[in-house]
Amino acid sequence: MTSEEPGFAARTGRLESPATIAMAVRARALRAEGHEVLSLALGEPDFATPRAVIEAAHRAALDGQTKYPPVDGTPALKSAIARKFARENGLEYALSEIMVSNGGKQVIFNAFMATIDAGDEVVIPAPYWVSYPLAARLFGGVPVIAECREEDGFRLTAPALEAAMSARTRWVVLNFPSNPTGAVMGLADLEAVAEVLRRYPQAWILSDEIYEHLVFDGARHHSLAAVAPDLAARILTVNGVSKSYAMTGWRVGYAGGPERLIRMMTRIQGNATSGICSVAQAAAAAALDGPASLIAEMRDTYARRRTMVVEALRAIPGVTCAMPEGAFYAYPGIAGCLGRTSRGGQVVRTDEDFARALLDEQHVACVHGSAFGLGPYLRLSCATSDDVLREACARIAEFVAGLR
Ligand SMILES: Cc1ncc(COP(=O)(O)O)c(C=O)c1O
Repeated sequence: MTSEEPGFAARTGRLESPATIAMAVRARALRAEGHEVLSLALGEPDFATPRAVIEAAHRAALDGQTKYPPVDGTPALKSAIARKFARENGLEYALSEIMVSNGGKQVIFNAFMATIDAGDEVVIPAPYWVSYPLAARLFGGVPVIAECREEDGFRLTAPALEAAMSARTRWVVLNFPSNPTGAVMGLADLEAVAEVLRRYPQAWILSDEIYEHLVFDGARHHSLAAVAPDLAARILTVNGVSKSYAMTGWRVGYAGGPERLIRMMTRIQGNATSGICSVAQAAAAAALDGPASLIAEMRDTYARRRTMVVEALRAIPGVTCAMPEGAFYAYPGIAGCLGRTSRGGQVVRTDEDFARALLDEQHVACVHGSAFGLGPYLRLSCATSDDVLREACARIAEFVAGLR
């Protein structure tokens, strides 16, 4: 027997906890102390899952759909996904080109695990969803950032992408509408990006379209694989029901892509977690086959809240805020608030200092932009009630007024 404690694998050294979750944990601790904390930290719809969707799950359970499902998804859900891709995205995927996972998150883990070797580069436009670089690093990948600037509406430009590409690029990750900025790529933007991608035939392309339905003011979402069908053999189109249908807890995500990639991802999933909860799959099929009105009401509510929040933020001296075209976040710039000291005596040099002091002193939880790869900004989730949003903006204004 040795006195050493059992240890961890070297790869866990690359495994950080996402800043989004860290803020939620801190907010929960303050709440446990009795403070009224307003949480704008997590990207989780505040709506209930539509009733018809819940009823479909109930029926499936009573009908005996309670056994191990196929690893790549039930035929019923995969067929609903194929119809959805054809109807909404102009994409014709065969069932062998579709798989279902525990959320979009597991789709991405499967894909990276199947393809990334140590030293492979993963090009990620910033600001990005925190999980992309974390997942890439876990498998030995090296994130390479392509900056999306506020002057460009936070869209990815061809020159910014080109500057990040190399002979070692294994993946290019696109996420539009974007978490955290809400940027939407127009047709011409995607065509310019596709032109760059054509020059790097060794790179897979992940198009994460999970916020596709949440686009506002007449903006339109386009699927990359439909805009550039010649690249479809390299594109993994990722989606899920979490955001569009208020189904985060059901854990259903899915992907369409080349059969050989889907097959390898399915092999990994079969060894890791097997198929996805059968009842949740029945629910997801009902959501995808359900009426468009399931989505429209939630989308309109997010659009209205976004306008309310952006206008309230713009009225705060030192804060700027672009109007997001999609998703359900606001991404205000706070450069004009830095280098000062809060009422509680905290020095606010960075956006992270700002977010921490705001939580400690005004009990508003949000996430600093630098956690998403571009500061000094904050990400505020608008997927919460009007009252909470209004009060949170008032507290942010109060916090900024107290900076000296
Ligand atoms: C951009 C993006 N992609 C994918 C996901 C994954 O969502 P889920 O695993 O719930 O499908 C999220 C969730 O926050 C997200 O913001």
